[in-house]
Amino acid sequence: MARYYLTTAIDYVNNRPHLGTAYEKIAADIIARYHRLIGDDVRLVMGNDEHSQNVFKRAKEQGLDPLAYCDRMEGEFRAVWKRLDIAFDDFIRTTEPRHKVAVQAMVQRSFETGDIYEGVYEGWYCVSCEEFKPEKGLVDGLCPVHRTKPDWIKEKNYFFKLSKYRDALLAHYAAHPAFVEPASRRNEMLSLLNSGLEDISVSRAGQAWGIPLPFDPANVVYVWYDALINYAAALNYGASDDSLFETWWAQADQPARHVTHLVGKDITRFHCVVWPAMLMSIGAPLPTQIFGHGWVTFKGEKMSKSLGTVVDPLEAAERLGPDPLRLFLAKEIVFGGDGDFSWDRFEEKYNADLANNLGNLVSRVTSMVQRYRSGALQVSSVAPDLEARAATCVAAYRREMDGLHLEAALGQVFQFTDVANEYIASKQPWTLAKNNQQIELDAVLWNATEAVRIIAVLLSPVMPTSASEILRRVGVSDAEAAAPSIDHAAFTIDGARTVSQRDALWPRLEIKEKSVSENEAPKSPEVPAVVAPVDAAAPVAPVAAAPSLWPAESRISIDDFMKIDLRIAKVLTAERVPKSKKLMKLSIDLGSEQRTLVAGIAEAYEPEQLVGRHVAIVANLKPATLMGIESNGMVLAASPDGGKPMLVSFDAPPAPGTRVR
Ligand code: MSP
Repeated sequence: MARYYLTTAIDYVNNRPHLGTAYEKIAADIIARYHRLIGDDVRLVMGNDEHSQNVFKRAKEQGLDPLAYCDRMEGEFRAVWKRLDIAFDDFIRTTEPRHKVAVQAMVQRSFETGDIYEGVYEGWYCVSCEEFKPEKGLVDGLCPVHRTKPDWIKEKNYFFKLSKYRDALLAHYAAHPAFVEPASRRNEMLSLLNSGLEDISVSRAGQAWGIPLPFDPANVVYVWYDALINYAAALNYGASDDSLFETWWAQADQPARHVTHLVGKDITRFHCVVWPAMLMSIGAPLPTQIFGHGWVTFKGEKMSKSLGTVVDPLEAAERLGPDPLRLFLAKEIVFGGDGDFSWDRFEEKYNADLANNLGNLVSRVTSMVQRYRSGALQVSSVAPDLEARAATCVAAYRREMDGLHLEAALGQVFQFTDVANEYIASKQPWTLAKNNQQIELDAVLWNATEAVRIIAVLLSPVMPTSASEILRRVGVSDAEAAAPSIDHAAFTIDGARTVSQRDALWPRLEIKEKSVSENEAPKSPEVPAVVAPVDAAAPVAPVAAAPSLWPAESRISIDDFMKIDLRIAKVLTAERVPKSKKLMKLSIDLGSEQRTLVAGIAEAYEPEQLVGRHVAIVANLKPATLMGIESNGMVLAASPDGGKPMLVSFDAPPAPGTRVR
C-alpha cells in the first residue's frame, strides 16, 4: 500500500469557482478516488488563497472586512465542491493560524541559512497576476495576460536566493524524469532553468493584508511565497506536533510514498522551480511529481468574466448531473492538454456514452434478470472471452490511471462497455429464453451482470454516485457499493445475487434543433426534455397510427438492391485521419484485392480495435476524396441518433470477399 498525498492549487477567492478551476478539483478527486480504489492511503488537500490584493480589494468593494469576506467565500467554494462530489480530506485557508505558523517557520529557516536577504526591488508588478514582471516579459508595456499596465514599484524587499539552486534543480530534473509532467511542461521548465535563474522578491512593503515576516514584521510575505507553503502548512509544518508532516511529507523520497501537486499550466514555474528551491532551502524532500494540466476553454477562449466566457460549474452539474459533468471533463479532455467545453458537446456525449451506451447496458441487463429470473441471479459458468476482455481492460485502465492518462483509462472502460453490449447482442438471451435454454440463459445473465459490475467498479472514481447506484442494482452490498475496491474488478463465482431494475440512470435527452450557435450557453437553465430509454428486453409494441417511414411508392425493387455490392472485408491497418475527429483511414482486404477507404468511425473505435476485424462494406461505390484521401467504398455501421456508430458484426467472421445480401 502506498501513501499518496495529493494537492491542488489553492484558489483565489476574489471570484467564485468557474468550470476551469473546478476541472482541476474534479481531476484531483478522480485521482484520489482511484488511489483509494487500489487500496492506497490517500490524503487530498485543497484550499483557498486569501492574501491577494485582489481579494482585499474585492472585500473592500463589498464593504466587508477581508476576513469576513473570505469566510463567506469559503462557504461558496465548499458548496460548489460538495455539489461536484469532491471528497477532500482537508481544506486549508491561508488566513488560518496553522498556515501562518508554517509560513513564518519556513521563512525564518531560510533567513537563518542566509537564503533570504534584504534588498530593494525596483520594477513592474502586475496586481492581477500578483507577479513581479521583468521588462522583457511585457508586451507593448502591458502585462501579456491582463493587457493592463503594471504598477512601477520601488520598495524594500527581501529576496530569496533562487539562483543558488539552479544546478541542484537541474540535477533533480535529470535524476527524476517524471518530476514534472506532461513532458511539454518539463521541457518548458528545463529551458527556463537552462537560461539561468535570478533571485526573487519574497516580501511586500507597506501592506497590511498578509503574513508578517518574523524577522521584520513591517513587511508581509509575498502572496505566492505564502501560498506555496500551504502544502506543508496543511500537514502542520512548523507546529509543535508535526506528525502529519512526518507521515505525509518527510518521507516523500522513500518508495511507496507519493507527493503530487496538481496545478494549471500557467503556474508551473512557481511549482516546478520556486517551490522545490524553497524546499531545498529548508532541507525537506521534494514532491514526487508536479503535474501541469491544461486549460478548459469556452468558445476557444480562456474563461474570463469580461469576455463572457465563464461557465458556472453548478449550472453544468444542475443540467445533467455532477457525474456526467465529471465524466465529460475527464474523458473528453486529454489530461495535460487543453479542451473546449460546449453545451452541445456535453449533451451529445451524455447521450452517446451514458444514455445510449452505459445506461442502456445497465437497463438491459437488470431488466432481463428481472424478467427472466425475477431478479434472483444464480451463479453460473464464466464466459472465458468476456472474462479475458475484462482482465485486459482492468490492466490497461490501471496502467493509464497510474500514468494520469485519465481520458485513456476511461476510453478503456467504454470499450469494454461496447464489448459487453456486443456480448449480449451476440448471445441473444431473449432467444435463449424463448427456446427454454435455461442453463445457457443463466450463464449469459450472470456474465453480463458481472461485466456491468466491473464497469461500475472502474468508473467509481469518476462517477461515484452513479457507480454505487449501479453496484447496488447488481446486488453488491451497500458498504461495498459505497467504497469499492479494485480487488473486486474481476469475474467472481461467489453465490447468488439479487438484481434490481429501477428507473433509467440517464434518460436520453431529446436534442432539439437549436437556434443558437453550436457553443452558445442555453438561454435558460431549464432541464432539457428527456425521452424514456428503450427497454431492450421488452418486445417493441407496434405503433398503431404512425405513417410508415417507407411508403409503398418509395420502395425499391430487388434488382435495385442487387446493384449494391455489399462485401465482407478484413481490416489490415487503421489510423486516424489527422485533423479529423470522425474519420479513420482503413486499408482492407477484400479477398480479391486490397483497398484504402475512409470511415466516419473514429469517435467510436480506436485503431487497434479495428485491425483484424471483419466489416461489411459497399464495394461498388464510386471513389470519393475525404480530407485529401481517396476512399474506395463505405463501411456499414448502425448510426444511433446522437450516439456513436456501431460496426455491423457477425457471429463468426465470414471470409473476406463474401457477399452480403
Ligand atoms: N492562487 C493561485 C494558486 C496558488 S497555489 C499555491 C491561483 N489561483 S487561481 O484561482 O487563479 O487558479 C486556481 C487553479 O485553477 C490554478 O491551478 C489554475 O491554473 C487553474 N485554472 C484557472 N483557470 C483554469 C481554466 N480555465 N482551466 C483549467 N484550469 C484553470 O493561481
